[in-house]
Amino acid sequence: MKTALAAPDALHPVAEKRADESGAPKRPAQVGSVPGVMKAVTHRRYGEPEVLALETLAMPVPGPDEVLVQVCAAGASIGDHHIITGKPYLIRATPFGGLPRPRNLVPGSAMAGRVAALGQNVTDFAVGDEVYGETTRGAFAEYVVVAAAKLGPRPTSLSFEEAAAVPWAVTALQALRDSGGLKPGQKVLINGASGAVGSWAVQLAKAMGAHVTAVCSPRNLARMRELGATDVIDYTKEDFVTGGPRFDVVVDLVANRSLTEFRSVLTPTGAYVACAGGGSDWVGPFGRLIVLLVMSLFTKQRLKPFVANPNRQDLAVLRDFVDSGKARPFVERRFPMAEAARALAHVGEGHAQGSTVITIAG
Ligand SMILES: NC(=O)c1ccc[n+]([C@@H]2O[C@H](COP(=O)([O-])OP(=O)(O)OC[C@H]3O[C@@H](n4cnc5c(N)ncnc54)[C@H](OP(=O)(O)O)[C@@H]3O)[C@@H](O)[C@H]2O)c1
Repeated sequence: MKTALAAPDALHPVAEKRADESGAPKRPAQVGSVPGVMKAVTHRRYGEPEVLALETLAMPVPGPDEVLVQVCAAGASIGDHHIITGKPYLIRATPFGGLPRPRNLVPGSAMAGRVAALGQNVTDFAVGDEVYGETTRGAFAEYVVVAAAKLGPRPTSLSFEEAAAVPWAVTALQALRDSGGLKPGQKVLINGASGAVGSWAVQLAKAMGAHVTAVCSPRNLARMRELGATDVIDYTKEDFVTGGPRFDVVVDLVANRSLTEFRSVLTPTGAYVACAGGGSDWVGPFGRLIVLLVMSLFTKQRLKPFVANPNRQDLAVLRDFVDSGKARPFVERRFPMAEAARALAHVGEGHAQGSTVITIAG
């Protein structure tokens, strides 16, 4: 595995040899000292975050390829807010939602903590290892089960709270590197640069050797420059759409302009990476994504719907990136587990600065 981020190449993953691919005998499940019950933030009906409650639940049990993690801190994101409110309504028809009520009792995805028990096929972690990663549900709890493939050793230079903010960098990395195909010397626009994903996107794009333009509100301008933006656009005073085609890549984290307007600032072969929500309460971004796919058949511009794919290789890339001092998470606010609803209400306002974290254990 690469350990340095001296060159843009270091943001590309190197295949990790997993112990279970090496012919080593499988170990039986390892179990640390795990209680029978845990405290968890529960989600029994859709609504504003005050529908969340704190309950005592049975301890989850890891499957053969899963790990039970004692959660020290979890990231609260706008994506979690969508799941809790059940809006756009279409989300209720996906595995993240459920009809007529939420399918997943405990929300929460990004987290950092300690390995508490291992499924029988998991050979590359040990009880007590400090890890971080992203799951599809369950992180707002004292313990969570996570697929081993979506976990990695946590950055050692960070606190657990800071490490819980790093999984959003996976979104930024994959949007820039994989969907955007960003190359050194190219010009990239980050729309929505000051939030959880955008704050990473600015730093990663800079590390990839790009010329970074960050779109944000006035209170974030100085921080964007500190993170590496060459140019900053205050969206309350200036419109990035005026100025003509000039960006090789646009990473859109807001979806506040039409596709035609975004395309108007792209070079003829530039890439528009659509990460954001937006859209109506019913279908959210899905309608826009269909238009994007159809439009992409008729242009040399690369119009890319984006869905992050959390995985251990990219967690390793980002751990090395952070531990080598090339970037830091910006944790704006921390909330105790009992105040998870306040954390989610904060991100739900749509103007979070960097990341919001729920502290769960020391
Ligand atoms: N597709 C995927 O796999 C994936 C994964 C993760 C996230 N996402 C999506 O990516 C988007 C961003 O996520 P996030 O976690 O970074 O959200 P976030 O932390 O809430 O940040 C959003 C940022 O947008 C800024 N903003 C609001 N209005 C703006 C405007 N008119 N122009 C420019 N910036 C504006 C806000 O800053 P100000 O206070 O300065 O306005 C805020 O910091 C969300 O839609 C989320 O659902 C998608």
